[in-house]
Amino acid sequence: MRILLFTGKGGVGKSTVAAATATMAAGAGRRTLVLSTDAAHSLADAFGTEVGGEPEEVSPGLFVHQVDAQRRFEQSWADIQGYLLRVLEVAGVDPVAAEELTVIPGAEEVLALLEVRLHALSDDWDTIVVDCAPTAETLRLLALPEALGWYMTRVFPVERRVVRALKPVLSRAAGIPMPEDDVFSAVERLHAELDQVRALLTGPDTGVRLVLTPEQVVLAEARRSYTTLSLFGYRVDGVVANRVFPGNDADPWRAGWVAAQAEVLDQVADSFADVAVWHSEYRASEPVGLPALADFGQQVYGDSDPLAVPAVREPFRITRSGDGAVLRLRLPFVGRGDVDLARDGDDLVVTVASYRRLLTLPAGLARHRVAGARVDGGELQVRFAAERSED
Ligand SMILES: Nc1ncnc2c1ncn2[C@@H]1O[C@H](COP(=O)(O)OP(=O)(O)OP(=O)(O)O)[C@@H](O)[C@H]1O
Ligand SMILES: [Mg+2]
Repeated sequence: MRILLFTGKGGVGKSTVAAATATMAAGAGRRTLVLSTDAAHSLADAFGTEVGGEPEEVSPGLFVHQVDAQRRFEQSWADIQGYLLRVLEVAGVDPVAAEELTVIPGAEEVLALLEVRLHALSDDWDTIVVDCAPTAETLRLLALPEALGWYMTRVFPVERRVVRALKPVLSRAAGIPMPEDDVFSAVERLHAELDQVRALLTGPDTGVRLVLTPEQVVLAEARRSYTTLSLFGYRVDGVVANRVFPGNDADPWRAGWVAAQAEVLDQVADSFADVAVWHSEYRASEPVGLPALADFGQQVYGDSDPLAVPAVREPFRITRSGDGAVLRLRLPFVGRGDVDLARDGDDLVVTVASYRRLLTLPAGLARHRVAGARVDGGELQVRFAAERSED
């Protein structure tokens, strides 16, 4: 099974390219599901059909699913939200306002990703195409399970024990309800599910495709996404440059755009030299509906296989050398001064711009000390040396 995630700046054509790619996959005889994690009904718009809350077959072997994140949200969140509502009630917050307060921004998108997990486990599909939200949002959310992981493994069990021990005392003293065990279980379950989603989406069967338009600001954002996605272990395996002006018999106005785009497209080729780069033309009309999407997909991918698993280097690997080791993390476009590195117990904390990843070191390395680090050719290399014995 292959999972393809499409992301990119707002309005560049993510939904269109995702829909066209899914159409190509289904056309090649693969059972294909395309789903959107977006609350807007953009996939339905691209296919020019109504899409319900369940996967709907729009052509043989091609299913479209507009995830009803609100419904998922209510199922997964019910226990946790229930507790928060009880606390807010005690604090004297108006029930309607309390309801608002327990809605977490971005939670819907995370829960939509949980839907991807269910579909991937179901064995129903050969290909799953995910139309993601615009760049920054998706990146942040995809990093969430790992960030929570730290809390879940260290703080959470302690808190749970403490709460259990103190519950009778505290409940009486402060009048604030203590979380019941089912709240803890709900959080634990949610975390385990999110962790599985992350494992799935960073696994070898999943590729991230960046959609961009040939404009400087859009390219700049795509490059940042490439770095951040790599930092978090996602495999960017392709770029689609959309809305390229055809260069034939252009009037001066269009000729100006063609030249400007050509310059950015050169930079795109340089920036993404190690992944596939596809181009798609700026059409005279919106590519809406199956025939238009099939035609669009054909033009984007030509004879290349849109689902091919390209030889993308592992985003993260460790090689042994003597009794030491080298950890390598791909970080495209990053220079020495852009990376901050810290050791925190068994974790290596890697910070690039405002993004931070906690890399839990494998047991074999946890006792090693960091002997040096460098950034070379878009790769962070951290050398570990065996700690000398204490005596
Ligand atoms: N190559 C193209 N030629 C002409 N129109 C296009 C092309 N690509 C996309 N469009 C149109 O541009 C609009 C935006 O495209 P789309 O909805 O796919 O973008 P998006 O990146 O998913 O946007 P959002 O960030 O809002 O989700 C749509 O009306 C779509 O039909
Ligand atoms: Mg969209």
